[in-house]
Amino acid sequence: MEKKGGRRRGAGNAIAVPPLLAFVVVAPAVVFMLQSAVSGGGSATGSHTQDRRRRLREQSPLPQHVPGETQKASLQLPVKVVGGAIERGLARSRAAIRRAARAAPNGVESVRRIRSFKDASDAFVPRGAIYRNARASHRSYVEMEKRLKIWTYSEGEPPLAHLAPGTDIYSIEGQFLAEMEEPLNRFAARHPDEANVFLLPISVCNLVHYVYRLNTTAHLAPLRKLLADYVAVISDKHPYWNRSGGADHVLVSCHDWAPLVSEGSPELRDNAIRVLCNANVSEGFVPRKDATLPEVNLADGVLRLPTQGLPRQNRTTLAFFAGGMLGEIRRALLEQWAGREDPEMDVHEYLPPHGGGPGYDDYHALMGRARFCLCPSGFEVASPRVVESVFAGCVPVIISEGYPLPFGDVLDWSKMSVAVPAARIPELKAILRGVSERRYRVLRARVLQAQRHFVLHRPARRFDMIHMVLHSIWLRRLNVRLPY
Ligand SMILES: *[C@@H]1O[C@H](CO)[C@@H](O)[C@H](O)[C@H]1NC(C)=O
Ligand SMILES: *[C@@H]1O[C@H](CO)[C@@H](O)[C@H](O)[C@H]1NC(C)=O
Ligand SMILES: *[C@@H]1O[C@H](CO)[C@@H](O)[C@H](O)[C@H]1NC(C)=O
Ligand SMILES: *[C@@H]1O[C@H](CO)[C@@H](O)[C@H](O)[C@H]1NC(C)=O
Repeated sequence: MEKKGGRRRGAGNAIAVPPLLAFVVVAPAVVFMLQSAVSGGGSATGSHTQDRRRRLREQSPLPQHVPGETQKASLQLPVKVVGGAIERGLARSRAAIRRAARAAPNGVESVRRIRSFKDASDAFVPRGAIYRNARASHRSYVEMEKRLKIWTYSEGEPPLAHLAPGTDIYSIEGQFLAEMEEPLNRFAARHPDEANVFLLPISVCNLVHYVYRLNTTAHLAPLRKLLADYVAVISDKHPYWNRSGGADHVLVSCHDWAPLVSEGSPELRDNAIRVLCNANVSEGFVPRKDATLPEVNLADGVLRLPTQGLPRQNRTTLAFFAGGMLGEIRRALLEQWAGREDPEMDVHEYLPPHGGGPGYDDYHALMGRARFCLCPSGFEVASPRVVESVFAGCVPVIISEGYPLPFGDVLDWSKMSVAVPAARIPELKAILRGVSERRYRVLRARVLQAQRHFVLHRPARRFDMIHMVLHSIWLRRLNVRLPY
């Protein structure tokens, strides 16, 4: 486990990912649940939690299918839950998204209407093949702008709460948290009673940084305990956690250990929306309720805009990769392709960091010169390379297993990347050479089109990375119905 704790920038991070959630088709209004006991102060017996969990598992406007995950039959409960004001609002949003999803493919009119809805200064409207369903995505985004109200608990002290790294490989954790606590955050609830989502402002990165090292032989136990204590405090002090069993609560973390630390609170693990970089479906990540957080390496803390890199015709390298031999997929990749005298396959185990050859500064330039950028998983599924590729205008090659790609409920990654199963690493060159010039041109144009969703702005802007993360949360929140 120690090995995972020390990921460094440039060192191997991995990436990878398959397509994901089939957004759009909104399921029939599934009725939700609530067993009798739940609503008001039912006895807190063991089965209470079970009941709650079941009711939370109900379902939703955006059914999803994740490769590698068996689809569980959803419960059909006979009781219709009558929600309160918040649920009524969310029900209207679900219905609007459903309508948009079903609208005629050339529903220009509805687009126009939506466009005039607000924010004329940035009237971006998703269009094109990179979206699973552009109209539903847009409608859902607009509904989020109308209705999402997120309450960030004030409990807890920095550095374990309200503070997280804003630079380096886990930077998205700190950037997201800071943005949510920013007074100008347009999604902030003014009072918890109006909130439909509750953020636990805990930083797993800082738990690891400040607490883990105090006693490494205790492993994760103290971190789990701190998280459990935090949940106990807010569930004791406020009514919001207990009324949903945590289903409308969110934990956002980029640390590799976040999934393990979240086990400190079974309710958090099973019910809450966990937004994680380490989104490995074989390690308990549940795409229906959890969301993938893109990993962003802000080595120097400077927020940058994406580039186009070299034009297509000038990209002479077929494939680029530089990173450590972390994990089996990396090993297979490096053993097969590193150190070959093959100018088309620019594959290295690390670039020399200083002097003597290309250094870190060249890393992004090399991506900008390659046709394809390899994004293999390392010890963990996530890696900043997916975002880096998109930033460099380089078509990502996803080599991973069980990794739902970021924003995969909205973006159709199969339209803008190439997925190569780990077993086919030996054929990598042939596979990439097999992509026709025409297909490549289309893929690359789509990568450029998707760039706006991977830009970090502070303050956040419409459809940028932070707002897309919020949108992922919004979709999961729509997946549960609660009686208030
Ligand atoms: C560290 O944790 C282990 C396991 O919980 C415990 O046995 C040990 O006493 C702790 N060491 C210190 C210095 O607290
Ligand atoms: C929520 O439930 C826990 C555990 O059952 C209990 O200790 C706590 O007091 C409850 N919170 C509220 C606000 O009633
Ligand atoms: C791309 O290649 C062409 C022809 O080799 C060259 O003239 C042009 O300057 C190159 N463009 C860039 C941006 O390198
Ligand atoms: C994902 O989880 C599975 C099961 O624990 C593990 O075998 C695999 O190595 C993990 N993948 C990555 C890239 O961490």
